[in-house]
Amino acid sequence: MTTPLDLKGLQSLLWNFAGHRTVTTAAKCGILSRLARSPATVNTISEDLELAPEACDKVVRALVALGVLEYDEPIFRLAPDLEPLFNQGPDDLAPFLEHSHRMYENWGENLETWLRTGTWPRRERQSKEVQNFGKAMRGVGVRTAKTVVDHIDLEGVRSMLDIGGSLGHWAQAVCEKAPGVSATVFDIEETAAAGRELYRGTEFEGRISFSGGDYLSDDLGKGYDLALIANVLHQELAEQASELIRRTAKALAPGGRLCVVDFRIDSDRCGPELGTLFAIHMRDFGDTWTEADIGSWMTDAGLSSIERTDVGPTRWIITGHKR
Ligand SMILES: C[S@@+](CC[C@H](N)C(=O)[O-])C[C@H]1O[C@@H](n2cnc3c(N)ncnc32)[C@H](O)[C@@H]1O
Repeated sequence: MTTPLDLKGLQSLLWNFAGHRTVTTAAKCGILSRLARSPATVNTISEDLELAPEACDKVVRALVALGVLEYDEPIFRLAPDLEPLFNQGPDDLAPFLEHSHRMYENWGENLETWLRTGTWPRRERQSKEVQNFGKAMRGVGVRTAKTVVDHIDLEGVRSMLDIGGSLGHWAQAVCEKAPGVSATVFDIEETAAAGRELYRGTEFEGRISFSGGDYLSDDLGKGYDLALIANVLHQELAEQASELIRRTAKALAPGGRLCVVDFRIDSDRCGPELGTLFAIHMRDFGDTWTEADIGSWMTDAGLSSIERTDVGPTRWIITGHKR
């Protein structure tokens, strides 16, 4: 149940947007990555990153107030828990903050028009944007995957298919937890190629393979013990989402299970907050699907014993079994 806001709560909500923009802009301008390398004064930060010193001074102080930085005069440092997240390796969170920045820029520009006219321009991602999106999904997903996978029953699982599996972070989380599992990550050609490259020469090279194609029309393989559709159904309309579940269920071996991981939404679609906001983000090309929607598509696909596991307040796993 959501607690209704009072005026103070409303004011704080309105300022959330400024807080969001301050954090994502600081990330975009390199402040978080710079401080992850070493603590620094405002002068050093602004010199290193070629930022306006007075503006940089106000921004870093606001970041202290927001809890992103710590201040020990005259030195600013990243909050200890955040420091390892901005390590510039393949799991760096900075690309996700930049993605978040672009996403709300898009909201700022288009939400009102969409609300008035139902129109929100959409264009295909260019190659560079596909790459950035993959890095952003990995940056935010690599840690979530580890937590969520703890709630998935991996008993008897030897092979796994990860639909729309991006750069392989979910497959990796499963492989780390269950050493006998081999995973196939299915994603668009360009992302699959980037995933292959990322894992080349790593301990997972022989266990995580990448298949490129369109999950709605290309062959998904067969005989898998586990299939995962994580954060993918919400980007499809009902007809395609149902078709994707049908095709994925077909790729399972008898006794296999399909896990859909996605944002939770109540049956009246009025909560939780993240699920409802995400439904806006998906506007007219996707949605945050209810348990009843996903369950009925699984039933249509011949899956049974459908169960729901909540993972924290915002996410769930809906699992169906193939007999
Ligand atoms: C929101 S991301 C989710 C990535 C990953 N599962 C995660 O949770 O981090 C959706 C993924 O679906 C992939 N995708 C979108 N349309 C696809 C299609 N028609 N065929 C294959 N993959 C697709 C995208 O490239 C992207 O990697």
